[in-house]
Amino acid sequence: MDKKVATLLNEQINKEFFSAYLYLSFANYFENEGLSGFANWYVVQAQEERDHAMLIVKYLQNNEVKVILEAIEKPENTWDDELTVLKAGLEHEKFITDSINTIYATALEVKDFRTTQFLDWFIKEQGEEETNANDLINKAQLIGKGGKGLYMLDQELGSRTYTAPSLVL
Ligand code: FEO
Repeated sequence: MDKKVATLLNEQINKEFFSAYLYLSFANYFENEGLSGFANWYVVQAQEERDHAMLIVKYLQNNEVKVILEAIEKPENTWDDELTVLKAGLEHEKFITDSINTIYATALEVKDFRTTQFLDWFIKEQGEEETNANDLINKAQLIGKGGKGLYMLDQELGSRTYTAPSLVL
C-alpha cells in the first residue's frame, strides 16, 4: 500500500477511537444531567466508533500494513448546556467526514482502488452520522429548554440499541 495512504489510515484509527472517547464524555455529561436516554444514545455511538477504528485496523492488517496505536487525546468534559453538546457532536462528525474524504482523495491519486472501495462504506456512514447529529440538534431546538418534550426525547433516545456494522472484511 502507498505509504501516504497507510499513514492516513493509521491516523484515522486514532481519530475513530478519539470519537468513541469524546462520545463517552458526552454520555457522562448527559448522565450527570439526569438524561440517561441521551447518555445511552452516545454510549451506543461510542461503540460504533470503536467498530470504525477496528474495521480500519483489520483492513490494514489484511494488507500487511503495520498498525501503530498512538495516545488518545483527552476529550472535553464540560459544556454549557445540552444543545452545545449536540452541536459539538455535529462539528466533530464534519471533521471526521473531511478526514475520510482526504484519505479517499489520496487513495484515488495513487490509483489505490482497493482502499477507495473500502472507504465507500465510511463515506456513506459519515452521511448518516451527520444526518443523525443534525436531527438531534433540530429536535432539541424544537423542544427548547427542559420540560415534557425533553423528557420524551430522552425516552426515545434511551431505546437506541447497538448493532454491529454491516461491513465485513
Ligand atoms: Fe466514525 Fe462518527 O465517525
